[in-house]
Amino acid sequence: MQNDSGKTISIWMTTAEVPEQPVLTENIYADVCIIGAGIAGMSTAYILTRQGKSVVVLDDGLIGGGQTARTTAHLSNALSYRYYELEQIHGKEGAKVIAQSHTTAINTIEAIATQENINCDFERLDGYLFAPDLKSIDDIQHELEAAHRVGLTDVEMVKKAPLTDFDTGVCLRFPRQGQFDPLKYLAGLAEAIQRRGGRIYTRAHVEKIQGGLLARVETSTGQVVTADAVVVATNSPISNLASMHFKQAPYITFVIALKVPHGSVAKALYWDTIDPYHYVRLQKLDDEYDLLIVGGEDHKTGQADDANARYARLQTWTRERFPMAQELLFHWSGQVMNSDDGIAYIGKNPFDEDNVYIVTGDTGIGMTHGTIAGILLTDLILERKNTWAELYDPSRVRVGGVSDFISENVNVATQYLDWLTPGDVDSVEKIAPGKGAVIRNGLTKIAAYRDEKGTLHQHSAICTHLNCIVAWNSLENTWDCPCHGSRFDTQGKVINGPAINGLTPTVDS
Ligand code: FES
Repeated sequence: MQNDSGKTISIWMTTAEVPEQPVLTENIYADVCIIGAGIAGMSTAYILTRQGKSVVVLDDGLIGGGQTARTTAHLSNALSYRYYELEQIHGKEGAKVIAQSHTTAINTIEAIATQENINCDFERLDGYLFAPDLKSIDDIQHELEAAHRVGLTDVEMVKKAPLTDFDTGVCLRFPRQGQFDPLKYLAGLAEAIQRRGGRIYTRAHVEKIQGGLLARVETSTGQVVTADAVVVATNSPISNLASMHFKQAPYITFVIALKVPHGSVAKALYWDTIDPYHYVRLQKLDDEYDLLIVGGEDHKTGQADDANARYARLQTWTRERFPMAQELLFHWSGQVMNSDDGIAYIGKNPFDEDNVYIVTGDTGIGMTHGTIAGILLTDLILERKNTWAELYDPSRVRVGGVSDFISENVNVATQYLDWLTPGDVDSVEKIAPGKGAVIRNGLTKIAAYRDEKGTLHQHSAICTHLNCIVAWNSLENTWDCPCHGSRFDTQGKVINGPAINGLTPTVDS
């Protein structure tokens, strides 16, 4: 499939045939308009069509062309935060709902794949959480007790994960986790949605969303979708100027995929407890080889540009523990939105009309959170009671916990100091073909990219969301905003919200 979201290619972009969709050419109506054709938007559209609702899905790229193409697609009820932490933040009952909802999400994906005959390589398998140091062995013991308290009574402590060359030490086994090919799954969902009358339009960039009686969604090419409800499922919500962006932080995560002989690594999900943690899975390559897919080395979006060093560390980590690993076949990066309390925000958009809904804050477990969104948002739109609603409510106020979100917001505030600093280089002459750099231009800054033919493309470096200065991402050839995760391609086009508009071209570009 064509790659909309950066320069690197994930394994899923090569395995799945995601069908192109028509372009929207007229004004239309649907019961629900869904913006974003990733896992959250497509799951919501599918479940709504099963309930007899008419849906229109709009995406300014391709189906799954955003961060869903860049996940490693672990399907797990073991989250990035430990359950003993989630109990502190959300209370014991809240933590039970978290466990139950993520378990339901895995079951739902399995059921949909079966019912709709979607060949998406869905598999059940164990997940192993291991502790690389003595301190986190205590965490493992606490987590075992917490997992049992929240209802995951089949989680057990084992002496080590079932790996031949890597002694993980004591770890927790989470049974009945899952994995799949996310783009094959979305391709199947698209077909099922359309079979039930749902309409999907790609290359439809949404510029304005207005809730209320007969909500309006306006595209940059002038078409309007009117609807009784709107779901904004754009990774970071484009419908919310500020309030949600103080409650989550964007991170870039890095993934490598290496060839290993088939059967040489036990098929399971593996996660360690360090921060940022490593996450590991396998994917069948052919009859002789599997791909060992390893991720980690996260950094805040727009606040580092050292991917080569991060990939080198990931490879070292992997080859020390998996000596059967052979050549590197894929490497890619993705963006995750880490919420301030360990779970996604799913529900009514704060400070908006009652019929505008959002899903964001995937916190590294977007496949299950996206599926939870499909179930929960369908119930909210149909005005049915759902016991998950309060927990995932985007308006919730965090009352306790372990993360340092004050420091995350201080971090955002300090990004505005970029207005005062020199540019990356002092002249566009120093920008080589295929590279980008921020340069100072009087009181402002320019994002300058020189294409492979030597032509300069210059845009204002001021992010169109809330005016931070973007930074060059030399891995993906994107301009990344260090404040709330907006990202732009080399031509200034926005490829990830919350910004709605692209970078402004400079007069002489
Ligand atoms: Fe908010 Fe750029 S994403 S200022």
